[in-house]
Amino acid sequence: MCGIVGYIGTQPAYDILLQGLRRLEYRGYDSAGVALMKDDGSLNVYKATGKVANLELTASGKDTDGSIGIAHTRWATHGEPTDINAHPHLSQSGDIALVHNGTIENYAVLREALTQHGYTFKSETDTEVLVQLIEYIKEKNHCYLFDAVREALKQVEGAYAIAVIERGNPSRLIAARKSSPLVIGIGEGETFIASDATPIVGFTDKVIYLKDNEIAIVEQGKPLQIKSLNSNKPSSINIQKLQLSVAQLEKGGYDAFMLKEIFEQPNTLTDCIRGRIVDGGSRVVLSGVVENAEKFRYANRIIIVACGTSWHAALIGKRLIQEMCQLPVEVEYASEFRYGCPIITPRDIVVAISQSGETADTLAAIQLAKEKGAFVYGICNVVGASIPRNTDSGTYIHVGPEIGVASTKAFTGQVTVLTLLALCAGQIRGTVSTDTVRKIGRALINMPKTIKEVLKLNEPIKDLSRIFTYSHNFLYLGRGYNYPTALEGALKLKEISYIHAEGYPAAEMKHGPIALIDNEMPTVIIAPSDSLYDKIVSNVQQVKSRGGSVIAIVNKGNDSMNELADYCLQIPEVPECLTPIVSSIPLQLLAYYIAVNKGKDVDRPRNLAKSVTVE
Ligand code: F6R
Repeated sequence: MCGIVGYIGTQPAYDILLQGLRRLEYRGYDSAGVALMKDDGSLNVYKATGKVANLELTASGKDTDGSIGIAHTRWATHGEPTDINAHPHLSQSGDIALVHNGTIENYAVLREALTQHGYTFKSETDTEVLVQLIEYIKEKNHCYLFDAVREALKQVEGAYAIAVIERGNPSRLIAARKSSPLVIGIGEGETFIASDATPIVGFTDKVIYLKDNEIAIVEQGKPLQIKSLNSNKPSSINIQKLQLSVAQLEKGGYDAFMLKEIFEQPNTLTDCIRGRIVDGGSRVVLSGVVENAEKFRYANRIIIVACGTSWHAALIGKRLIQEMCQLPVEVEYASEFRYGCPIITPRDIVVAISQSGETADTLAAIQLAKEKGAFVYGICNVVGASIPRNTDSGTYIHVGPEIGVASTKAFTGQVTVLTLLALCAGQIRGTVSTDTVRKIGRALINMPKTIKEVLKLNEPIKDLSRIFTYSHNFLYLGRGYNYPTALEGALKLKEISYIHAEGYPAAEMKHGPIALIDNEMPTVIIAPSDSLYDKIVSNVQQVKSRGGSVIAIVNKGNDSMNELADYCLQIPEVPECLTPIVSSIPLQLLAYYIAVNKGKDVDRPRNLAKSVTVE
C-alpha cells in the first residue's frame, strides 16, 4: 500500500521518479506527488489527487529540474485522497520533505505534543506528523538530518518505509524501514530507493533489501551506509542480483496487465513446475519440503494463513494436503488467526501464502507462529520480499511480476505449488501412491497445453460477458475442490466490476441463498465431471426451476448440460484436484470482460491496492 521512489545521481530525477511511480501504481492511486531538489538546493514539490497521470499534468510546464528527488503514490489510510493529504509532506519550515508507506499508530499523541510546541498541520495524515517530528528534533538537538530521523523513528510506533530529503543538501537522501518494504538499487554513480524492485529494473540489477529497523544514508559520490536504528555500527551490506526484466513489467500489446497475466498462465505454470516434477512425472521434489523432510514426516497438523485470493488458494491446499498427506489442515485468515488466541505447538507447520510477500496481517501471523515455536513455510511470488525472508523455509511460485491488482496467475501458481507440496510431503509421509503422483504429475506437466485450450474460450466469454454486464448480483457455486474456485470467481467479479457477487458451496445454496434467485440473478456453476458431478446437476436444476439463469463450467464433451444450463463453457478434463486451476481461468476472463464492458479500469480498481501493507 502506497509506493515510494527515491533517486539520487546525475540524471534528471523527475523522469526516473515518474516512471517508478507508474510501475508502483498498483500499490495505490489515490494521489501522487514528487519533491525535486535542484543543484542549488532549492526544492520543488508537485502533488495531484488521483493517478500518476494527473501528477504529470500538474507538473507539466513547471520546473522539474534536479538530480535528487522522492516521490509517492498513495493508498489513503489517514485522511481523504486530496492534494493536501498527498505526499511528499513538508516540515513546518518547508525544509524537510518526506514520503512514507505504512502507518504511524501513535500519530495522534505525537501530533498533540507537536501542537503544544507550536507546530501546525496542513493535512490529516500520520506522515505529516513524522516529518514535523524530525524537524522538531533537528532544531531542538541542533543535529544533522540523519540523527533527527533516527531519533524520530525511535519515537514512532507502527510501520514505515520512508525516504527523506532536506532543502539545501542536494547530495543526501535518508531512507529507513520497519515492517514496510524498501529496496535500494545501486547503479553507476546513482542510487535508487523503492518500495519494491520494479522501479529499479532497467537501471541496475544490484539491489539491497533493507531490513527492519535499518536506516540508510545515501550520499552522492560516497559509499552507501546502512546502520541499525539503535547502533552506530555500520550494518553489513548484502547486494543481491535482481532477476527481473523490463519486458516483464510491460503490457506486451495487451489492453491491460490483468489480461496479459491471464494469457501468461501457460508460461507461468511452466516456470512454476520447472525442475520440480521428475522421473517422468512420478516424483515431486520441492526443495523446501525435502530439506525439511523430518518436519513434514512428523507434523501433527498444518495451519495455512493467508488473505484474499491467497486464502482461496489455501482452501484448495487444505483439501490437497489432507488427501495426499493424511494430515489435518486448518485454514485461517491471517487477520483472524493473529487475534484468535491460536493454539500452536512445535509439531505444527504454519504455511503462509502471499503473492506480494508483504501483506501485513500474514507477516504478523508468521511472527506469532514463530514465537510459538512452529515451523513456518512461505509460498510467495515476489522474490526477496519480507515473507520469504521471515519464514523458516518455503517455495516461490515463480509466475513473474503480477501487476494487475486482481490476482490471476498468482492464484493458479499458488494452487500448483500447493499441489506439489501435498504430493512431495505425501511421498515423504508414505501417504500417496506413486500412481497418484504420476497421474497428477503428468497432468501438471501437461497443464500449460491444457490452459492454452482453456484460453480458446476468450472470444465466447467476451460475447457472453455482454449479456451480463448490467446484472447487479451474481452467485457462484462450486463443490469440493471447486467451492474455493467459486469464492475466487466471485471475488474477481466484485473487485474489478463492482458487481455484488457471492461464492457458495453449491449444496449450501438451499440453506439460504436460494431465496435470492430470480430471473435477474445469474448463477455461475462450476461443474466438472468429478466425484460430485451428479450432486451439482441437482443444484443446477434447483436454480433453473426458480427462474435463474445458469452459466455452467463443464468438461469437454459434456453436452448433456446444454439441456439444463443457459450457457455452457467447456474446459478440458484433468484430475479432480487440478480442476480449480483449469476452471478458474474462464471466471477470470468473465470478470475481466464484464468490467471492461462497464468501462472500469481493471488494473486499478477503486479503493484497492495490490499489496496490503497495513492492518
Ligand atoms: C484479489 C487480491 C487480494 C490479495 C490479498 C492478499 O485479487 O489480489 O485479495 O490476494 O490482498 O495478497 P497477497 O497474496 O499479496 O498476500
